[in-house]
Amino acid sequence: MNLSAFGQRLTSESGTRSLMDDLGAIAAAGGDIMNLGGGNPSLIPAAEMVFRVRLQALMQRDGAFERAIGTYDAPEGDRDFARALAGILRREQGWDVSERNIALTNGSQSAFIALFNLFAGPRAGEDGGERRSTRILLPLSPEYIGYADAGLSPGMLTARRSTITDLGDRLFKYGVDFEGVEAVEDIAAICVSRPTNPTGNVVTDEELTRLGAIARARGAPLIVDNAYGLPFPGIVFGEAAPAWDDNTILCMSLSKLGLPGLRTGIVIANEEIIAALGAVNAIFCLAPGSLGPALATDLVESGEVLALARNVIRPHYAERAERAVDLLREGLDGCEIRIHRPEGAFFLWLWMPGLPITNAVLYERLKARNVVVVSGQHFFPGLEDDDWPHKHECIRISYADDWSRIERGLGIIVEEVRRACNGG
Ligand SMILES: Cc1ncc(COP(=O)(O)O)c(C=O)c1O
Repeated sequence: MNLSAFGQRLTSESGTRSLMDDLGAIAAAGGDIMNLGGGNPSLIPAAEMVFRVRLQALMQRDGAFERAIGTYDAPEGDRDFARALAGILRREQGWDVSERNIALTNGSQSAFIALFNLFAGPRAGEDGGERRSTRILLPLSPEYIGYADAGLSPGMLTARRSTITDLGDRLFKYGVDFEGVEAVEDIAAICVSRPTNPTGNVVTDEELTRLGAIARARGAPLIVDNAYGLPFPGIVFGEAAPAWDDNTILCMSLSKLGLPGLRTGIVIANEEIIAALGAVNAIFCLAPGSLGPALATDLVESGEVLALARNVIRPHYAERAERAVDLLREGLDGCEIRIHRPEGAFFLWLWMPGLPITNAVLYERLKARNVVVVSGQHFFPGLEDDDWPHKHECIRISYADDWSRIERGLGIIVEEVRRACNGG
């Protein structure tokens, strides 16, 4: 195959691809795999029942099913869904938004590819001056691996190490190093996942406000990846206010509600950005898929999605987070470990300072025992040249899979970390 530079970049080893391959290979090998690695949400029966009922209603309503499968939506996606969502955001959050502030994409992952490349990369200088390059700044590192290869020209991401605050009781929290952030030049956009995958961190309201002010002062948007956040799927365990203004690009998704197969991403931004995303969609895919929004419109319009988030999704993960932390804390008593305080999403981020083996070796030992986690070094996109030892001291553990497998997997993690911390 004779590939272009673009082709070579997309097909070369990417962190996201190798992780997906690894998970696929392990699953194909069969055996009793304890999958504490992937990003799949839990299969929650009460949520599935809601989706089943909605899908049946869609199929029975005159013409609705035919429209959902038989016509292209606008390039910005289903307008009925956008109107319903704008309504809920006005009512619940008091935001000044209409359907013209909302575009849909085929999963929010595609939204990041569009947004990063709309804003960052080589651009013509002002008044025909010299060309220059701008970058997406990830102010908190570790950060979501999916950003790593979303920039289609090299060097589009830059990241700053998070600060670390010890909270006692084996817990810690990452924070934004604002001095480091302020020192970055050539910012095209600032992007942060809130709650954060892989750490379960929720950037504080104050940090978010400060990041918004920095972005605005630089003439750059603030991209907030709200894939796990409020108002839905609402996997946030403490107090945190969602925020939006005309310089914020809020990305949401139906995936973590339990619908990743429907590939529905949602972007809430000013009208100019929404029009740009419509233009990108038209080229990438003509129009985003219709089935996800068709299924979800009534859920959103009626507000049932908020009850689902509050009464089913959030408590499901909050309870698991607590149980998983207890198991690790008790099992690893006497070992030098820290856990990021689980504030949202469905991952535990285990930090093992001074462990005699790297996280990559621990990953292999766990894999040999049929336990799949994700080794932490993958979650530092934009910080590639940085020799921070922290990168090799952490693993991400998902607690979304079937609980009995999670429990057994955590037991094996405890055994292997203990063995390593005792010099084995
Ligand atoms: C933080 C974060 N953002 C975005 C995504 C992408 O989700 P989707 O493309 O399914 O909407 C994920 C998926 O795991 C994620 O964890």
